[in-house]
Amino acid sequence: MKSSLEIPKHWTFRSRAVAKHFTRHVREQLPWYDLATNAVAHFGRHYIPRGGVVYDVGASTGNVGLALQETLDQRGARFTAIEESREMADRYQGPPELAIADAVTFDYQPFDFAVCFLVMMFLPVDTRPAFLRRLESLTKPGGALVVVDKVQMPPGYVGTAFSRLTLQQKLAVGARPEDILRKELSLAGYQRPLDPGMMPETARTFFQVGEFVGWILAAPER
Ligand SMILES: C[S@@+](CC[C@H](N)C(=O)[O-])C[C@H]1O[C@@H](n2cnc3c(N)ncnc32)[C@H](O)[C@@H]1O
Repeated sequence: MKSSLEIPKHWTFRSRAVAKHFTRHVREQLPWYDLATNAVAHFGRHYIPRGGVVYDVGASTGNVGLALQETLDQRGARFTAIEESREMADRYQGPPELAIADAVTFDYQPFDFAVCFLVMMFLPVDTRPAFLRRLESLTKPGGALVVVDKVQMPPGYVGTAFSRLTLQQKLAVGARPEDILRKELSLAGYQRPLDPGMMPETARTFFQVGEFVGWILAAPER
């Protein structure tokens, strides 16, 4: 069984203890994390042009940037990671540049490829639709925006089954039941799953494991 993580009563990424264990903790909590990261790198190879502009929104310790690194180097792309927590930023190991800033109000340039990997669920609910529309409108023709996030479950028993899949998978990779429970309760009020109806019809699903979904929003080419 995996060792216990220091879980704050009220979840925050502005914590040295959370930042210190993030990279291990996220893999312990989400067994598909590397698989979904790999898919993001795959789409990066398809949508980052030579000299392209790329953003990693809510970068944490740099997972997405590291996954994109080879493509960024090969294409000579300009990369910016955005992370609001200084504690997380202090542990950042991805490619430069890192901006310590609020992603919602950040002054983006039009981009070829942007990634919101497990971050929308932490943004204030009332900012999400406008933020998503803004990112869409900033995507250059032929570019793409990737969103991976936790979504609200459908009503009825199937929703219960989906939610229990997350619990079952965490247990299966050795997370401690007490940690799973404490983390769930710690997230109350901060992590709020996305309304999947917020996604435009043009968004294409490339990944789903129970409550977690990945979409790619490819901008029209003209
Ligand atoms: C689950 S982590 C993201 C994981 C990361 N993208 C990865 O691939 O490992 C969520 C991150 O989003 C950051 N975050 C939350 N709200 C933010 C905001 N308004 N602006 C920038 N970063 C934010 C948190 O500080 C945290 O580091």
